[in-house]
Amino acid sequence: MAWGLVELANRPDIQRNLQNASIEVSEVRKEILRLWPPSWLFARDALVQIDVAGHRLPRGSHILISSWVLHRTTAWDDAMAFAPERWAEMPPPNAYIPYGAGKRFCMGANFANGQIDAFLGVLRDKRIFPAGAAVYGSIDDRATLVPVGLKFRVGSI
Ligand code: HEM
Repeated sequence: MAWGLVELANRPDIQRNLQNASIEVSEVRKEILRLWPPSWLFARDALVQIDVAGHRLPRGSHILISSWVLHRTTAWDDAMAFAPERWAEMPPPNAYIPYGAGKRFCMGANFANGQIDAFLGVLRDKRIFPAGAAVYGSIDDRATLVPVGLKFRVGSI
């Protein structure tokens, strides 16, 4: 949600699109979770030898999977751009895993999506401004991506 505030603070055009409903709250939420996936790194252990994308991984390999990296690869058009409108079309296959995938898929995904959508719904009728130059602040890369020093103001339209 904090990253969403920052993206919106930087992009009055997207705030306007949200207000006039030319983009949907869910598209903004998906794009926030693409560029700023809170669970940015998770791990697996190979119980047996496996081949992944041309690499042979021996049994016992410790495998780190980063949604942050996957979401910023060339699988995405203009991957670094915050562009909620891209979600009007299907995303590239196997390139979006903010909630993981497969058997360990996040049990709270629907709940979290609902919370984010409700939050963005409230913000739709507000104006969010950057406050100070360092609007992106910095990232504390713990188990989850923790925003540090984000600065913005929220006011009425
Ligand atoms: C934006 C918010 C959230 C994100 C980005 C997120 C992300 C993730 C990811 C990536 C995984 C998979 C980890 C892996 O494969 O090793 C996961 C698993 C899980 N999440 Fe979430 N999560 C969020 C919110 C929640 C909430 C609100 C709950 C509970 C109310 C929750 C409960 C769980 C549980 C129980 C698992 C483990 C599922 C399993 O191992 O079977 N998550 N989450």
